[in-house]
Amino acid sequence: MTDDELLDAAREVREQAHCPYSNFRVGAALIDDQGNLHVGCNVENAVYSLVSCAEAGAISAMVAAGGKRIVRIAVAGGSENTCACPPCGGCRQRIQEFADDLTRIIFKDNDDEWHTFTMDELLPSSFHL
Ligand code: THU
Repeated sequence: MTDDELLDAAREVREQAHCPYSNFRVGAALIDDQGNLHVGCNVENAVYSLVSCAEAGAISAMVAAGGKRIVRIAVAGGSENTCACPPCGGCRQRIQEFADDLTRIIFKDNDDEWHTFTMDELLPSSFHL
């Protein structure tokens, strides 16, 4: 699967988002170490703090299916015409749990440019047990 196809998968699952409070749809699509695709979208709750980010959903799907590492993950958010959604700080930590030096994180910035980052670029000096 190409990066473009992975980004398309993130855009597609974004349509399933449950986000009546923010109206900000997010989709995440990842390829695991077995070459399998997993997707997730944000799921909000009337108790706002219970929101589940799109990345968390995709990672849960990967773990449930037996995937161990994230090879590539794409995140797409916002309205249909824009996709800019840099992963939030919490999701950077979530991704890191399953990342290694080869992991690539792909998303669009506010200038509409796609970028590919390593984990260390996104979350330098990060916490590890
Ligand atoms: N959101 C995600 O799903 N992932 C992120 O990395 C950033 C934020 C969601 C949470 C909430 O439903 C909405 O975007 C607005 O914050």
